[in-house]
Amino acid sequence: MRILAIESSCDETAAAIVEGEIPERAEELEKGKNTKKSKEIEKGEKVKKSGRGSAKLKSNIVVSQIDIFKEYGGVIPEVAARSHLEAVLPVIDKAFSEAGLKLENGKNNWDEIDAVAVTNTPGLLGSLLVGTLTARTMAILHEKPLYAVHHLKSHIFSNWIEAEKLPEFPLISLVISGGHTQIIRMEDEESFEIVGTTLDDAVGECFDKVAKILGLEYPGGPSVSRAGADGDAEKYKLPHPKIEGLDFSFSGLKTAVLRAVQKEAKVPISYPSHELKNLLTEKQVDDFSASFEKTAIEILLEKVKKALKMYPETRSILFAGGVSANENLRKMAEKTLNYASCDIFFPKREFSGDNAGMVGMAAYYEILSGKKPTDPRSLKVIPRSEIA
Ligand SMILES: Nc1ncnc2c1ncn2[C@@H]1O[C@H](COP(=O)(O)OP(=O)(O)OP(=O)(O)O)[C@@H](O)[C@H]1O
Ligand SMILES: [Mg+2]
Repeated sequence: MRILAIESSCDETAAAIVEGEIPERAEELEKGKNTKKSKEIEKGEKVKKSGRGSAKLKSNIVVSQIDIFKEYGGVIPEVAARSHLEAVLPVIDKAFSEAGLKLENGKNNWDEIDAVAVTNTPGLLGSLLVGTLTARTMAILHEKPLYAVHHLKSHIFSNWIEAEKLPEFPLISLVISGGHTQIIRMEDEESFEIVGTTLDDAVGECFDKVAKILGLEYPGGPSVSRAGADGDAEKYKLPHPKIEGLDFSFSGLKTAVLRAVQKEAKVPISYPSHELKNLLTEKQVDDFSASFEKTAIEILLEKVKKALKMYPETRSILFAGGVSANENLRKMAEKTLNYASCDIFFPKREFSGDNAGMVGMAAYYEILSGKKPTDPRSLKVIPRSEIA
């Protein structure tokens, strides 16, 4: 089974071809009883039991708009949507060619595709519309079943891509990205329960805002990490929020950094935050970066430990989303969670940010579980939503 997956929820335009087995149907298909795989899939028959099947990427193309938004220090939705519009068809073409799915006349070989998958929620409205309208049109034109995939579910399934070992259920996943900070519990590939969420800012957003205060470039995660590598993480003591249960809060940490920078620069709290960077030495920027990064990681891991205590039956702990690329988080997680009798999973770094490979992977497991495709004519785009 081959899936063309499309992702355009924020500022990356991405397309991938994911190829997966249908375990319990393989024999039948080989015997030639069912040659029309798309129709088979469309029926949504339950074709596998939880935990089986495997899929791999045949291609995974990502065109990022980061260079455009570095200039502005953040994403401008209107500009993002226009850039998606320019990139989406060339990106899909490249996904076909890198997967070796071009016909001799240079056209995409749609006979080799069994389904189309696309992110429809959550994300920026204009950005989501470009991907979904493209996917809907292609599904109708080429008569393929269409699967609408939740973006956070895709982030979680990035852990299945090129994994040496697959996660086992029940699992706990910490989704940490530019827009979300959530702990999601899964009993199997299809069940999702949000057991913790941020009450205000997402942790990735907090990295981006702190970077802005310190005069570091967008996106803030990698630039704060780079600056922090030369800094003293113990230099500035930053507070941990006192939030009950498994919920998070990151806006207080961002404000704490702002106040500490103002204090260090000896200016009042009314001083414009965008001018503070001019008052800091390189050493101060490095120390603030290291102290902030350490505190953010501690806050995240404290909650994961709490979640493990609440759900002792957990067999795998997964990290997902852009912030899961963070090197120090990876090291600290291995160190602080090694007492737990479950495996720790991080996606390969190239799959932690937005990409379509993870969308195809999530769709693959949805298809295996018998999920019915969406009618392309009535596919809904939902900018903000909880996980399905
Ligand atoms: N090494 C890193 N350390 C910390 N944060 C990082 C790192 N690399 C990227 N990030 C952060 O990850 C975020 C981007 O992640 P991602 O692309 O998954 O988010 P998004 O797609 O914009 O949001 P969402 O997935 O919630 O819709 C940015 O906030 C960025 O600063
Ligand atoms: Mg994302």
